[in-house]
Amino acid sequence: MPRQILVTSALPYANGPLHLGHIIEAVQTDVWVRFQKMQGNDCLYVCAEDTHGTPIMIKAQTEGVTPEALIARVAEEHRADYRDFLIGHDHFHSTHSDENRYFTDLMFERLNAAGHITRRSVRQAYDETAGMFLPDRYVRGTCPTCKTPDQYGDSCEACGATYTPADLLEPKSTISGTPPVWRESEHLFFALGHFDAMLREWVASGSLQPAVRAKLEEWFAAGLQDWDISRDAPYFGFGIPGHPGKYFYVWFDAPIGYLGSFKALCARVGLDMSHYLKADSPTELHHFIGKDISYFHTLFWPAVLHGSGFRRPTAVHVHGFLTINGQKMSKSRGTFITARRYLEHLPPEPLRYYFAAKLGPGVDDIDLSLEDFTARVNSDLVGKLVNIASRCAGFVARAGGRLATSLPEPELHTEFASAAPRIAALYEGRDYSQAIREIMQLADRANQYVDARKPWALARDPAQAEAALAVATQGINLFRVLMLYLAPVLPQMACKAAAFLGTPLARWNEVDAPLLGTVLASYEPLATRLELKSVAALVAQPATPAAAAAGVAPPTAPSTTPATASSKAAAPKITSEPDVIGIDDFTKVQLRIAEVLAASTVEGSDKLLKLTLGLGDTQRTVFSGIRKSYSPESLVGKRVVLVANLAPRKMRFGVSEGMVLCATDENDRVYLLTADDGAAGGMPIS
Ligand code: 2FM
Ligand code: ZN
Repeated sequence: MPRQILVTSALPYANGPLHLGHIIEAVQTDVWVRFQKMQGNDCLYVCAEDTHGTPIMIKAQTEGVTPEALIARVAEEHRADYRDFLIGHDHFHSTHSDENRYFTDLMFERLNAAGHITRRSVRQAYDETAGMFLPDRYVRGTCPTCKTPDQYGDSCEACGATYTPADLLEPKSTISGTPPVWRESEHLFFALGHFDAMLREWVASGSLQPAVRAKLEEWFAAGLQDWDISRDAPYFGFGIPGHPGKYFYVWFDAPIGYLGSFKALCARVGLDMSHYLKADSPTELHHFIGKDISYFHTLFWPAVLHGSGFRRPTAVHVHGFLTINGQKMSKSRGTFITARRYLEHLPPEPLRYYFAAKLGPGVDDIDLSLEDFTARVNSDLVGKLVNIASRCAGFVARAGGRLATSLPEPELHTEFASAAPRIAALYEGRDYSQAIREIMQLADRANQYVDARKPWALARDPAQAEAALAVATQGINLFRVLMLYLAPVLPQMACKAAAFLGTPLARWNEVDAPLLGTVLASYEPLATRLELKSVAALVAQPATPAAAAAGVAPPTAPSTTPATASSKAAAPKITSEPDVIGIDDFTKVQLRIAEVLAASTVEGSDKLLKLTLGLGDTQRTVFSGIRKSYSPESLVGKRVVLVANLAPRKMRFGVSEGMVLCATDENDRVYLLTADDGAAGGMPIS
């Protein structure tokens, strides 16, 4: 029986862009969902915009638009970001929707009818100029403890003291700048304490991580407090039925938004929602969240669900915070990397892979070290995984593209396939980092196999052509198994690999039967190498359109040793994957010494120089992306290395007839390769 699983990740606030902290959570969730689907489970992933509350109302006012217009615009941006990171929501909705209003009203009514809603008066800061009550964060003043000025109304950043806005010295509203007054207002409370025993039992049922459980024990020990679920007008949210001028607090209707989104999905695809929601539902409900919102999801939310007669979550999976280069993301340090900024520089899958390689089952913070990211992706995806396919594909192509009809070493395939249950258990338990480690160990084994069997050496002898094909068939099959294991993390690459293999990579149990005697499509590069320079640019100033255009200028320096040298001069965002090439391929490259006769800048490009090169009796024009590193004058008279048989490339500025070689050192400095005097003072070797 397939499991029926409903999965959510936290709803992003509709008042700002997604950043990589949102993306790591979405990736963690998406990998789990894709894995479940590959297992054949009925797994559905819903999310939505979190649209209500004071910050959204204020932001809309500041922008001079309605909150509805603001949330609609931001929703579009968020959707595009999730889509481009390959996050496969089955439905993405909004908390400002009929479906969400339906469940919010229903659950409030049921809680109220069951006696879980109480009322009492609350004294709160009020801005008479703006005509509104002020959330704690909207009052600033001097810390009553250490006297540091300009602190928030709930805690002091200088000394860490916590207090209420009423304790601040010289308090001011951040909205109007005027001192607030204190006003009483009646609020509605959810009696969380009524659910103490139920929650303890739910926690004991074992669906929470040990660190989260420990935190809950602390909260139980401190006593569960009533929760204020109402706010006064003006507020952007749902009015509370029967309580004019009162609105549901955003955190009341936000988790209900999971159900609102699912309701819309059920209507769309014809599912029976009550089957998923009823108290004794046989289905599963999994929430993925960050540790900052554990309280809402492990106390309030199960209590609200239970109090309304619905099922409780099967599990709440909590992850740690994302740090960049070991530090908290910070706008001033330039490390607040939005999802869009990342996507403007780099493709999504390397980051999905890196996040997966770092995500464990615990709540530890996860660091995105840009250098480690670059090295890891290049080493694992390009150097190991894709390398297996790219070094084997040619031998199959030579045999007409058809794989051999049997494997030379079937037991090796069995060994790879038998890792499936172990790797599945790791995905299931969200121990992606261990899953990736095991998959990469297998990738090493596959490369060792190809190294040992040397299909390139076999292929040199026509009598051994079949043996070469056999090794390649085995290699391609090992690659296929690995690609299946990585498909939850790398869905796009799996799709391309499936096109190459001519068979889908959709189900976990496809690992067992090897692919034999079938025809492969022609091999297209499956992954690209990351350049540290482009990765580092994630935390620098945004790229200008001109720089981005120059990024696709002709490569100036092919690197013969891709691991160390790179074609920095043309600053391509990503160089192509370092296919291992044989000496036969390499000797095709004709290198000639040429003299720079003239050099000039190119109007409209801040990257390129136009070089006129002399080769004895002929001249060539070459555009080279070394303007940042060399002045035109300094080049004239230099003897450079020209790739003489490169097909001419038509560019916006003219035709480039070849390329000059450059390389970089360990500090990423660019060096144009020049010729020494040559053997015997440049005399032809006779
Ligand atoms: O912390 C946040 O970003 C909230 N918008 C998360 C809400 S999750 C769910 F409860 F809606
Ligand atoms: Zn202080």
